[in-house]
Amino acid sequence: MGGGFYISKVVGVAGIVLGAGAVATIIALAVVYSEEVAKNNEVISPTNEGSTVKPTLTTTEGSSVSTPEGSSVSTPLLPTAQPSNEPWDKYRLPDTLKPDHYNLTLWPRLKVNEQGLYIFTGETYVVFQCVKETDLILIHSNKLNYTKWEGGQLAKLTALGNITAPTIKSSWLQETTQYLVMQLNGNLTVGELYQLDTKFVGELANDLGGFYRSEYEEDGIEKVVATTQMQPTDARKAFPCFDEPAMKAVFHITLLHPVGTIALSNGMERVTMEGPEGTVEVLKTSFSETKRMSTYLLAFIVIAMLLNRLQIRIYARKKAITDKQGEYALNITGPILKFFEEYYNVSYPLPKSDQIALPDFNAGAMENWGLITYRETALLYDPEMSSNSNKERIATIIAHELAHMWFGNLVTLNWWNDLWLNEGFASYVEYLGANDAEPDWNIKDLIVLNDVHRVFAIDALASSHPLSSEEQAIQKPEQISELFDAISYMYCNVCVCHFLQQTYLKAFSYNNTVYSDLWDHLDLAANSSGVSLPTGFNVNSIMNRWVLQMGFPVITIDTANGHFSQEHFLLDPASRPDVPESEFKYEWIVPIRWMKTGKEQSLTWLKTRTANMTDMKVIENEWVLANLNVSGYYRVNYDVPNWERLLNVLNTTPESIPVINRAQLIDDAFNLARAKYIDTILALRTTKYLKTEKEYMPWESALNNLDFFYLMFDRSEVFGYMQAYLKIQVEELFGHFKNITDNWTKVPSGHMDQYNQVNAIRVACSTGIDECLNLTKGWYKQWMNDPTKNPIHPNLRTTVYCSAISAGGEAEWEFGWNQFNASTIATEADKLRYALACTKQPWLLNKYLEYSLNPTKIRKQDATSTIVYIASNVVGQPLAWDFIRDRWQYIFEHHSFTFAPTGTSSIQLMLLFSQLKDFQAEHNDFGSGNLAIQQSIERTSANIRWVAENKKKVLEWFDGEVPKP
Ligand SMILES: *[C@@H]1O[C@H](CO)[C@@H](O)[C@H](O)[C@H]1NC(C)=O
Ligand SMILES: *[C@@H]1O[C@H](CO)[C@@H](O)[C@H](O)[C@H]1NC(C)=O
Ligand SMILES: *[C@@H]1O[C@H](CO)[C@@H](O)[C@H](O)[C@H]1NC(C)=O
Ligand SMILES: *[C@@H]1O[C@H](CO)[C@@H](O)[C@H](O)[C@H]1NC(C)=O
Ligand SMILES: [Zn+2]
Repeated sequence: MGGGFYISKVVGVAGIVLGAGAVATIIALAVVYSEEVAKNNEVISPTNEGSTVKPTLTTTEGSSVSTPEGSSVSTPLLPTAQPSNEPWDKYRLPDTLKPDHYNLTLWPRLKVNEQGLYIFTGETYVVFQCVKETDLILIHSNKLNYTKWEGGQLAKLTALGNITAPTIKSSWLQETTQYLVMQLNGNLTVGELYQLDTKFVGELANDLGGFYRSEYEEDGIEKVVATTQMQPTDARKAFPCFDEPAMKAVFHITLLHPVGTIALSNGMERVTMEGPEGTVEVLKTSFSETKRMSTYLLAFIVIAMLLNRLQIRIYARKKAITDKQGEYALNITGPILKFFEEYYNVSYPLPKSDQIALPDFNAGAMENWGLITYRETALLYDPEMSSNSNKERIATIIAHELAHMWFGNLVTLNWWNDLWLNEGFASYVEYLGANDAEPDWNIKDLIVLNDVHRVFAIDALASSHPLSSEEQAIQKPEQISELFDAISYMYCNVCVCHFLQQTYLKAFSYNNTVYSDLWDHLDLAANSSGVSLPTGFNVNSIMNRWVLQMGFPVITIDTANGHFSQEHFLLDPASRPDVPESEFKYEWIVPIRWMKTGKEQSLTWLKTRTANMTDMKVIENEWVLANLNVSGYYRVNYDVPNWERLLNVLNTTPESIPVINRAQLIDDAFNLARAKYIDTILALRTTKYLKTEKEYMPWESALNNLDFFYLMFDRSEVFGYMQAYLKIQVEELFGHFKNITDNWTKVPSGHMDQYNQVNAIRVACSTGIDECLNLTKGWYKQWMNDPTKNPIHPNLRTTVYCSAISAGGEAEWEFGWNQFNASTIATEADKLRYALACTKQPWLLNKYLEYSLNPTKIRKQDATSTIVYIASNVVGQPLAWDFIRDRWQYIFEHHSFTFAPTGTSSIQLMLLFSQLKDFQAEHNDFGSGNLAIQQSIERTSANIRWVAENKKKVLEWFDGEVPKP
């Protein structure tokens, strides 16, 4: 994408005054912010024409000076008198020669040499054409000392054409007029090209002219920058050149510079490789050739590469950039990189960070080193059009990919079997990075809802797999692809990531590792930081149980006697015989953080299948709650009396249970019920207290779990009773948001509140609260009347569109479809694409299914998710299923139909695949979808059994909860 568009930023850069008259020239300036629209060249320079914000320069005296442009402080005064008539005594060049191009390599030394001098060395040749016959070469040179060639001359002359160049008779430096003079033993031939080679050394003086040295102090350390000011006549102080503005040429520039610095010049840096000198750590950066240009416009800079001089660029379609959709990504990338630098205690390994949004991109993003690719919705944010959840996705996905710049890219796994380590770790620290960028969001709490619950759902199946596989077991490309499932993305459980140590990254930088290397380093870290591991275990022996066997435990606590135990949790107990054997017998070393009647107790380790702890025994109204803040990867079950006491706490003083645990209690209860540990009605009873709950996490957890009930019962009589129950439960929440938003005119201030507002509207409308339906239909109607003015807040759009299209008919659908086609904003298009699947009209849904496989209507990357959206609509489900079955061959061949349970789709997929068993027999190769299909089949058969067992009592319970008229 060389010709792409981007905006860029040099984070916290110290801008440099080039040849300014000020004595002290180094600047503490927050951000040089360049918005490049039409050109690709980015040079750190205060006179950069692309700057939209003029940097304010501050001298060390603290005074502000404006940007100098064309300052001429270092210009030598040109003498007016001319002492003699020899050509080398004249100040202007003769008109005999014309440069064509230069090839120049300069190497500034940023440390003093043995003589106490800062110097630079250079090697250059200039190719010039003879335009008038002459036996004299004059080229500008000032304060440069030359290395002599064979024959004692200061330069070497060769002819490029089919002739021999005359030899050099004598050569010398004419100091007054600043020439390197060569008298020849013959004439140069008109029209011929000649090459003049020189090697030289100059002083990198602190004199503000030519190639010079600038010094500044940072964090108490003296830093040296090599930089240039050529205008008007100091290019000759950097290298021998025809130093007059009319003597234009093309310049091929290479700079040698120490490791840890970056080199800049007029051209785009092309390659940086290791430099020549064996012992010195030198990099060699070549720049793309310049345009034909004058010498006074050249610039070379070598500057320490600190993170705050890192160049960050965001590339996207031109319109997305001019609409400023890249700004958010641009603004958070620097802080997140800085956060990770501190977190890892290793500096960002590259001089730049490019991120590009691509209109067609299958995955969410890919962490290519220094050039990260994204689908548009994962990188571009439009405050007018994007919701807070779009924003959160952008922040977390950027943090995730940036985390890989170290973990994954700097240190890489030996083979794909350890992919989980890479992804698991990045999926965990993405929350830390995003939390640093958006500290008000409390985003770390969302790990539980977004990741833990998602992985719990898959890892509770007998068809799950251990995190780590044997290296030999993973060979084929399909096997590698299969590893990219939610389990590999599992968050770093058991908290060990909290003390992940930098020694690991340091020790394996630029190398490869296997996971046990990490444990070894964590052991070192645990020892030195005094983390208390259970006696007799180290990180290695603890972690092996979590990564070498699949699944996770359910801890059962009996508060009557303080007895607690663990068992491999399986969503379908009937699948236990299918579980493969494990050398650890499905026992884990489990850290248990817990509280008793609201008071946190000290950390306990469960190291065996069963254990006793008298502290967990309770009397009277005391209660026990374990897995505080869901810091461990396991579910918790209790004796029934303790469940009852917990329900009582929820109904009376819910705030004495941390909000994450309120969400977790609901999720544990529903899953324990499905796995037959507790009664389904007990699980449903955890939702009763929601009548007064205002927090997002418990609501979201409950709604996710009730979604399962919807899927199971949405075509049965249970549906109506369930709707009636939820309608009552959500009334107060709906009213609450109406109040705090001043009758829907404001946005709630908290990030989570904004999410829960969406829940309130979604549930209120879908359960038929009239006030809600009138609200959403009214907004949508308003928009249809004036399509240029969308009155719906971006946060609410998905829900409002869906509600209005669902309640409406063809006109609403067609309007939505037209808006989808007209939308230039990916996140907005995604919302409409989702909402179009909400219609209740079968013929519109069938039309939409046809569209989904037509790449001129729906992008190929979105085909799968569009079908899944349709399938999650009760009317669309059978239509989608028939459609997939008919078109299977085509879908399979043309779409990477991955069943990776991303986000919302995992549960909805289940019914769609209820007939998969036969289907799989028919098409016995699903490629990388095999494992996912196996998991779907397993879940589906469990569901069918579940419905048979529970339908009657669920119906009765909902019925009993709804007041009779
Ligand atoms: C410049 O000269 C060096 C040394 O002769 C050579 O390696 C390099 O390829 C040249 N670069 C160009 C662009 O001609
Ligand atoms: C070299 O060129 C000069 C100027 O054109 C001319 O006067 C002179 O005769 C030439 N010398 C030879 C040896 O051709
Ligand atoms: C070089 O010049 C000589 C003499 O004019 C001629 O014979 C020869 O063919 C030329 N070679 C090339 C490659 O032009
Ligand atoms: C160039 O040569 C002069 C004279 O020998 C010497 O004083 C000066 O230090 C030299 N410059 C460098 C950069 O070596
Ligand atoms: Zn990743």
